[in-house]
Amino acid sequence: MNTSIPSDLIDQIRAQSDIVEVIGEHGVHLKSAGKDFKGLCPFHDEKTPSFTASRGRQMFYCFGCQAGGNVISFVQRLEGKSFVETIEYLAERSGIALPTPDAKAHQAQQKRRKLQDLNQLAIDFFRQNLMTPGIGGRTLVYLKQRGISERTIEDFQLGFVPAGQRQLIQFAQKKGFSVQQLIDVGLAKEDRRGTTDRFRNRVIFPIFDERNRPVAFGGRGTTDDIRPKYLNSANTIIYDKSKTLYNLQNARKEIHQTGVAILVEGYFDAITLYQAGLHNVVASLGTAFSESHARLLNRFADQVIIIYDGDVAGLRAATRGLNTLVKVGLQVKVALLPEGDDPDEFVKTHGVKAFQSYLDKSLNLIEFQIQLAVEQGAIQRIDVKSKAVKEIAATLASLDSPVELNAYVNQVAGELDLDRAVVYQELVRLGVKPTVEEKSTSKRLAPVRHQVSARESIEWQLLESLILNPSLIPKAKDKFNIQDLHNKTYAKVGQLLYESEPVEIGELVNHCDESSKAIISQALMTDKVPPNLEARMMGCIKRLNQFLLLDFEKQMRSSALAEGKDNTATLVELVELSNRRRLVEKNVR
Ligand code: UTP
Ligand code: MN
Repeated sequence: MNTSIPSDLIDQIRAQSDIVEVIGEHGVHLKSAGKDFKGLCPFHDEKTPSFTASRGRQMFYCFGCQAGGNVISFVQRLEGKSFVETIEYLAERSGIALPTPDAKAHQAQQKRRKLQDLNQLAIDFFRQNLMTPGIGGRTLVYLKQRGISERTIEDFQLGFVPAGQRQLIQFAQKKGFSVQQLIDVGLAKEDRRGTTDRFRNRVIFPIFDERNRPVAFGGRGTTDDIRPKYLNSANTIIYDKSKTLYNLQNARKEIHQTGVAILVEGYFDAITLYQAGLHNVVASLGTAFSESHARLLNRFADQVIIIYDGDVAGLRAATRGLNTLVKVGLQVKVALLPEGDDPDEFVKTHGVKAFQSYLDKSLNLIEFQIQLAVEQGAIQRIDVKSKAVKEIAATLASLDSPVELNAYVNQVAGELDLDRAVVYQELVRLGVKPTVEEKSTSKRLAPVRHQVSARESIEWQLLESLILNPSLIPKAKDKFNIQDLHNKTYAKVGQLLYESEPVEIGELVNHCDESSKAIISQALMTDKVPPNLEARMMGCIKRLNQFLLLDFEKQMRSSALAEGKDNTATLVELVELSNRRRLVEKNVR
């Protein structure tokens, strides 16, 4: 989180952003229902409204998919924006100015802005060249021959730089930029001949960050004999290759809406697919696919379809990307094109329909790995099979959804004709716990309803009381160790309440994870606030302590049995314990 925005300002922005209005502005039709508003949930498919917004509490909660939070979390989740982006958006919406933090940070920010301005100037210069027949005429023909339309040239702000030594430098200097700035942003370089333009006689592809700020460039030789084929900006203070994906600025909306991102390698691959109507495409630009890339995509996507060439290098690249993506919790599919084809050429020769059918046939993680194994040798052979299981298990070990893990294990066992236990054994060897608490990774997963035990329902009531009346927290702290809650999510939320002792619960929502947000909003959305929350809380605590004593008793008994202890001391302790439990029971009634 950006700490440069003071928290009282965040509170002010939140207070000025009425949740009901903001939700309405984002296309959710809300109808008033009692003191709340109801509508169709934008976070999952539904026919009857279970999405509730409360003006009084400034919270939302969906009884269908358990999404919940305040106005900031609503925008973040719906738009796939980061916390800071959301604050900036809401501030602008209510006309609140955000301060620039301190002199040093301000200066750094100014410097970055200037370099972005310089990049924009360069983009304009390159585009002007492309559109001037005497200069960029042949390159324009080249682009047209490659099937790029004028509209696409505009969308991607493609350009051309002629073959001079200092064309851009001179142009930028006239506009008030210094040579040092050109060097800082990677548009000029110093060598024997002095300072010269870095890009010369190339088609120019500007690279933007996900917020549509121009950060770097790629340049392709205008004929195939020019080496290197592509020249790219090096990292600068405004460009980090490992955190940038080509076309994300155009693709992010569609990726967020569909949940799916198409990942290709090259500039032309992204451009051609985008032009053909597949707007959710991004390119890794031939660089190693990093974990930062994966996290960046994870902000917008649930699923990534990797499309690489169907040759050995493509397969290898796909495998590498695969594990990185799985690690951050994305679902991964792999589409393999016929050997030697890249997406750009494929779409041009066979059309977008044929390409779409390859997408539809894309393999999930396990099918892909199995295919790899099959391609590597006779899968019937025991040694090949066991090597395949080991490799697949390594991929599976990075999954953190037990539900998905289980489904994949079934699939591997089925496809490789193995016992599930064999696959699990391999996983356990890699440190995967066989019984992990159920946890969903997909942002769009259908709600899972499960039977709640009496104990869990008391734990819930305790938590609800504290959320509805935070002034009870100090008293609860005194009487109950919150880590003793059996339900681990409740314990986490409880810990959060104990640690922060918030005066106002809505504020807490800014700093917690999705599952905690859901619990807090669910509690706040309760229709009838129980009359005496303090008595209710004390009742819950007594019952829970009673459960704990019972736990302890059981534990004592079984360890006494296990160790063959039947001495009087243990016996006395046990009697003492059950007396205390009965006393608590009596007090509760
Ligand atoms: P490719 O060699 O597959 O090129 O490199 P391409 O994208 O199909 O390009 P065309 O169709 O021949 O024009 C894939 C990507 O790897 C990066 C570029 O981002 C390219 O789009 N690359 C390739 C470089 O950075 N430098 C190079 O010299 C070659
Ligand atoms: Mn190509």
